[in-house]
Amino acid sequence: MSDLSVEQFQSLSQQIYQKLGLHFDEKKIYFLKTRVAKRMAALGIDDPRDYVFLVSYADPKGVEMQALANLVTTNETYMFREYDQLQAFANHCLPEVLSAKQARGERTLRIWCAGCSSGEEAYTLAMIVQDVFPQAQSWDCSVVATDIDENMLRKTVAATYGYRSVNEVPDEYRHKYLVQAGEEWVVRRRTAELVQVRHLNLQDRMAMRAMRGFDFIFCRNVLIYFDDASRKAVIDHFYNALNPGGYIFLGHSESIGRVTTAFKLKRFETHLVYVKE
Ligand SMILES: C[S@@+](CC[C@H](N)C(=O)[O-])C[C@H]1O[C@@H](n2cnc3c(N)ncnc32)[C@H](O)[C@@H]1O
Repeated sequence: MSDLSVEQFQSLSQQIYQKLGLHFDEKKIYFLKTRVAKRMAALGIDDPRDYVFLVSYADPKGVEMQALANLVTTNETYMFREYDQLQAFANHCLPEVLSAKQARGERTLRIWCAGCSSGEEAYTLAMIVQDVFPQAQSWDCSVVATDIDENMLRKTVAATYGYRSVNEVPDEYRHKYLVQAGEEWVVRRRTAELVQVRHLNLQDRMAMRAMRGFDFIFCRNVLIYFDDASRKAVIDHFYNALNPGGYIFLGHSESIGRVTTAFKLKRFETHLVYVKE
C-alpha cells in the first residue's frame, strides 16, 4: 500500500475541514496518513488515489466521511475534568439560573454537552445537577450529549467506565452516582436517565439550527481543533441555542474573544465564563 502524497493529503484535509470543521495542517500529515491507511486496509483499497476518489466523488451520503470522522477525532476525556471550572458552575451559575427559573415558575433545565466524546463530561454534569438540585428529578431536566463520533456515542450510551475515566471523581460523588462492577464503574440509572445521547456534527448548519432552548452549553476541548472561521460559525449557533441568561463553558485554554463579542464575560474566582444577556 503506498502513502498519501502531499496533494492527496491536501485534498482530504480540505474535505475534512469543510465537513467536520477540523483543521489538519501539514504538521498533521503523519497522523492523517496512519488513520487513512487503517481505513484503506479495512476497505481493501491499496491505492490512495482510489480512496481520495471515494471520499471526493463516490460518497453522496457521507458514509465514508463519517467513518473518517470516527478515526480522526481526538476523544481524550474523563469525569470531573477541569474541576475548578465545574465548581463555578455548581456554586454560582447553576444556582443563579435555577432561582431565576423558580421565580418565573419554570421547571425545566436544559444543558447541552457538545463534543461529549465517550460521555464522562455529560454524566459529570448530571451528577452535579442532582447534587446541587435534588428536585431535578421532578423537573423536566436533561443533559443533551452530542458528538460526531459514533464509536464514542456508543460508549456514552453504555455509561460504563474504567479507572482512568473515574479517577478524578470525588469520593462523595463516586458513592452516590456510580456503582462498581468488577474493574468498571457504571453510572447509576437515575443519573444516566438525565442524559440524552444524540449524533450531531457541529458543522451541520441545519442540525445546529434545531438546537434551541438551552440554559447551559458545555463545549470544552472541542473548538481547539477548529480554526477561527469554523469556531465562529459554531459559537454563533451556540448564541442562538442559549436562553437569555444562559452560560457557555469552554475549556481552560479556549477563548472566543477573537470570534465574537456577543457574550458577556463573567469571572467566578479564577474562572471565566460567557453569559448571554
Ligand atoms: C477532546 S474531546 C472533548 C471531550 C469533553 N468535552 C471534554 O472536555 O473532556 C473532543 C470531542 O469533540 C468531538 N468533535 C470534533 N469535531 C466535531 C464536530 N465537527 N462535531 C461534533 N463533535 C466533534 C470529537 O469527536 C471528540 O469526541
